[in-house]
Amino acid sequence: MNIKTKLVALLFFVSILGYHCQLDLYLQGKRIFEAQCANCHMDDGSGLVEVIHDISNSDLFDSDNPKPLLKLLLEGGPDDRADGLQMPAYAKTLNRVELCNTINYLNNKWDEDFKEIEIQEFDKLYKKLMGQ
Ligand code: HEC
Repeated sequence: MNIKTKLVALLFFVSILGYHCQLDLYLQGKRIFEAQCANCHMDDGSGLVEVIHDISNSDLFDSDNPKPLLKLLLEGGPDDRADGLQMPAYAKTLNRVELCNTINYLNNKWDEDFKEIEIQEFDKLYKKLMGQ
């Protein structure tokens, strides 16, 4: 192999590696969404016809302001539906890392101005909402 071929081969492998890291980045969040949320919201967020609306265009997917989404996940809700259907509260079932990964997964999927929320920044918000 000449140097040019080697370089092309190297670039090829590096790009494959990069692609896989990207795919795996929010894998835990994806798994949590599919296991805990998709039975009501479906994998694509489209929900249940006439029961749960499509959440994919929700304002809650906002990387600059994760507080309302985290609050909903911790507390569940809403409590004002005529049929009483509510989302469960996840404060006891998902830990802070799982919540952070789920929020990053959802924002990456549905927030047009996606920016990753670092765990350190997330922790401050989490502690505040949990009253710690
Ligand atoms: C038992 C069913 C159920 C499960 C499970 C569930 N949700 Fe919900 N979720 C709801 C209902 C009901 C609403 C209110 C939406 C409506 O009234 O159409 C809602 C609302 C939402 C909204 C707000 C949309 C908006 O803009 O108001 C988001 C975001 C959301 N859910 C995310 C999640 C995530 C993330 C999970 C999993 C960690 C989850 N939900 C699990 C039933 C569920």
